[in-house]
Amino acid sequence: MAKVNPENDLLHVVGGRPLHGTIQVRGAKNFVSKAMVAALLASDVSVLKNVPEIRDVQVVSDLLRLHGVGVDVKPREGTVTIDAKHVELADVADVDTLSGSSRIPILFSGPLLHRLGEAFIPALGGCRIGSRPIDFHLETLRKLGAKVDKEHEAGIHITAPDGLHGAKIHLPYPSVGATEQTLLAAVLAKGKTELSGAATEPEIMDLVAVLQKMGAQISVDVDRTIRIEGVESLNGYTHTSLPDRIEAASWASAALATHGDIMVKGAQQPDMMTYLNVFRKIGGEFDVRDDGIRFWHPGGDLKPVAIETDVHPGFMTDWQQPLVVALTQAKGLSIVHETVYENRFGFTQPLIKMGATIQLYRECLGSLPCRFQQQNFEHSAVIFGPTPLTGRDIDVPDLRGGFSHLIAALTASGPSTVRGISLIDRGYEDFRDKLAALDAQID
Ligand code: EPU
Repeated sequence: MAKVNPENDLLHVVGGRPLHGTIQVRGAKNFVSKAMVAALLASDVSVLKNVPEIRDVQVVSDLLRLHGVGVDVKPREGTVTIDAKHVELADVADVDTLSGSSRIPILFSGPLLHRLGEAFIPALGGCRIGSRPIDFHLETLRKLGAKVDKEHEAGIHITAPDGLHGAKIHLPYPSVGATEQTLLAAVLAKGKTELSGAATEPEIMDLVAVLQKMGAQISVDVDRTIRIEGVESLNGYTHTSLPDRIEAASWASAALATHGDIMVKGAQQPDMMTYLNVFRKIGGEFDVRDDGIRFWHPGGDLKPVAIETDVHPGFMTDWQQPLVVALTQAKGLSIVHETVYENRFGFTQPLIKMGATIQLYRECLGSLPCRFQQQNFEHSAVIFGPTPLTGRDIDVPDLRGGFSHLIAALTASGPSTVRGISLIDRGYEDFRDKLAALDAQID
C-alpha cells in the first residue's frame, strides 16, 4: 500500500445518485490482525488466507518484522505467511515509530512474554471514540504473573522472568481486546485460566479456532466464561479469515442511504443476523445468496427504528455510524443508544451541517443499563428524518465516522470534499475502487 501524500488525502464526491453494482469483502480487520499476532506463539510457519489489503495489516506486519519475524504479504492473493521460528526483542526506538498507529501492539504482550520473557508496548493508537483505557489488559497480564512497568516514557515495559501462570480473571465489561489478551497470554501459561465476563464476538471465536488449530485447549461456556488449559507448545496454523461483517454492513447502509442496490460478495448471514433484522425493520430488502448478500432500497419511505449498541450478539457499535446516515433518510424519529463507547457521536456534527436533524443526549435513551448513565457523555442520539443532505467539506474524524461521512456525501445533493480519507484505508480495502465500481461520482 502506497504512503499517503497529504495533498492526495481527499476525495471529491458528487452525491445524489444511487450506488449500484457488486463489490467483494474479504477477511475481518478485527480478526486478521489478532490471528497475525497469534502466529508469534509458535516457533513455526503460519498461513492466513482471505487477508484484506488494509493499513492495520501493514502495521502488524511491520511490528512483527521489527521482532525478527518473517512476514510475506501477498495482497492480491490475500495471504500472509508468518515465519516465527526466530523472535528477538525489537529496538524500542523502532517500535516507538509505530506508536499511535493501532491498538494491536498491546496484544503482542502475551506472545512476547512467552517467547522472550519481556515485551515493550508503544503508546497505542486507534480511533478516538472514547478514552479507551487498557486497565483490563494490564490487570489480566498482572494476574497471569507479568510485571508491568508504566514508567518508560515511550510506552510500557512488561516482564515475566518466571513465565506466566494460569489465573482466575473477571472482566468488569466484556471487552473484545482484553478477552483476546487473555487468550493469547493464557494458552501457553502454566495451568488453568478461567476468564469470566468474556466477550464472545465471532472474531474472537475465530481466534479461538486458530488457537485450537495450533494445539491450544480452550472451551467457551454459555455464561461468557472461557476456560483455558495451558499447553507446553503450539504449532503454526493455516486458516481462512471470517469475512468482515462491519465492512459488509457499511456497504448495506450505503445502499439504503443512497436508494441503491449493492451485492456484497463474501458477506455471510450468521454473523450479521442482528444487523439484518434492523435493516429489514427500516424497510431495506436483502437476499442471502451462496456467494454473499444483496442489499437494496425497495423504494417508498424508510421507517425509523430504536436501537442500542451492545456486545455480541447485540447490535455492533461499529455498525452504528453508517446506519445513522441511512436513518437521516427514514420518515420519523429514530433513537440510537450507544452503550459500548462513551464518545462515538462526534461524527454527527458534520451530518447536521449537511442538513440532518440529530440531537444528542447525555441520558440513556434505551432499556439497557448502561455504564455511561449519570455521566457527562452524549451517548444517545435522536435522528429526525427524512432530511435532504447537501454536500460540503468534511474532515474524517475516525474510521467508521469517516466512512459514514463518505456515505453522507454520496447521499447529499451537490459536491463534497472529504479530507483525511487515508484513515478509511485502515479498515476498508480498496474503497475508492469499490465506490467507482458502484458508479459513484468520485475524483
Ligand atoms: N475498556 C476498558 N478497559 C480496557 C479495555 C476496554 O474500560 O482495558 C472499555 C473501552 O473503553 C470500551 C469498552 O471497554 O468502552 C469496549 O472496548 P473493547 O476492549 O471491547 O474494544 P477494543 O478491543 O479496543 C475492538 C475493535 C473495535 C470495536 C470494539 C467493540 C479491534 C482492533 N477493535 O476494540 O473496532 O469497536 O472491539 O466491538 O478489534 C473499529 O473497527 O472501528 C473499532 C473501533
